Amino acid sequence: MQPQSQTTATNPAQTSPSPSPSSLLPPTSYPLSPSLKIFAIESSCDDTAAAVVENGRKVLSSVVASQVFRHVEFGGVVPEIAGRMHCEAISGVAKEAFSQAGVTIDDVDAIAVTAYPGLIGSLLVGVNFAKGLALTASKPLIPVHHLRGHIAANFISHPGLEPPFLCLVVSGGHSHIVEVKDFTDMRIIGRTRDDAAGEAFDKTARTMGLPYPGGVHMDKLAENGNPEAFTFPVPKVSGSPYDFSFSGLKTAVINTIHNMQQKGMELPREDMAASVRNSVVNILTDRFLLAARDTGYKRLVLAGGVSANSLLRRRMKELCDAGGYELYYPALSLCGDNAAMIGAQGYFEFLCGHTADMSLNARAERSIEL
Ligand code: KG4
Ligand code: ZN
Repeated sequence: MQPQSQTTATNPAQTSPSPSPSSLLPPTSYPLSPSLKIFAIESSCDDTAAAVVENGRKVLSSVVASQVFRHVEFGGVVPEIAGRMHCEAISGVAKEAFSQAGVTIDDVDAIAVTAYPGLIGSLLVGVNFAKGLALTASKPLIPVHHLRGHIAANFISHPGLEPPFLCLVVSGGHSHIVEVKDFTDMRIIGRTRDDAAGEAFDKTARTMGLPYPGGVHMDKLAENGNPEAFTFPVPKVSGSPYDFSFSGLKTAVINTIHNMQQKGMELPREDMAASVRNSVVNILTDRFLLAARDTGYKRLVLAGGVSANSLLRRRMKELCDAGGYELYYPALSLCGDNAAMIGAQGYFEFLCGHTADMSLNARAERSIEL
């Protein structure tokens, strides 16, 4: 669906299926303001975030409390700690987001929240906080898919961007090539068979002794290294030509590093980082460009934490310039997890009437196709 202009928008709540139990629900009609403000919450992994977003494109506030300083000592996210830290942080983060936007709960039209996919104990904190707000303030509640949110970060960074387009969604937990037919109509045409791209970076970075999350450290180190110093096998994935695999690369990197250690050789870290980054980016761009050529999409979009990778951005720019494609990626501040992207996608879901009642529950897994 194309988003309707604010003057003609129908009330989405009127088109929602009749909810139950009725005594627990917000009212069935809401006065829509010409500038539709959404208060959004994100807590799917290790960032507690809240934001106020207007009309899906304009960020009035965006607050992110990262827990990475606690997880770094374990080399990865500890789910139990993450859930507890979301509990401690969420009220303060929400208060700060309202304050920075200069609005109160009465001024917002709806509450959006990441409901899936992610760490279940983390998601539950955000979902229950959002349900409490929606219930007490009688506001509609909008469940948002985390990866749809990552894609929507581009609607904030590029106010003129509209579907249809082909999107490479690359995060710490997922790697997909997605046909974005419309704001809420998506189809996966390629996916990873094993690790996500971010995981491939994080696991190889860990072998090199880099701190969690390794992707960003690897990216910095790689800038001064030789990408041809080490060569790694190109994965063969049978079946879909658009699917990725990173497990072979991970094993090859680990074996190379162990062999060098056994021989007492010093690891040229910059060269290793540059070679790993080059291999991951080659795998991603080969499949993405092949999918673009076969499907005929001329507008290509990057999304997710790994879309911050400097080589991925540069290489995609070169390939798109050479192949006559339009390329979009989010501002660096919107690549990682944040609630502004959830508020942006929440707006488009809301215009389609995709609201939930108080029976909404978090889910660790759910397809972006919904
Ligand atoms: O989207 P995101 O913030 O969280 C998930 O939804 O998973 O993605 C986090 C992932 C991590 O694996 C992190 O290492 C990776 O994004 N990442 C990067 C860069 N910045 C973050 N990977 C490569 N290069 C970067 N510059
Ligand atoms: Zn994410």
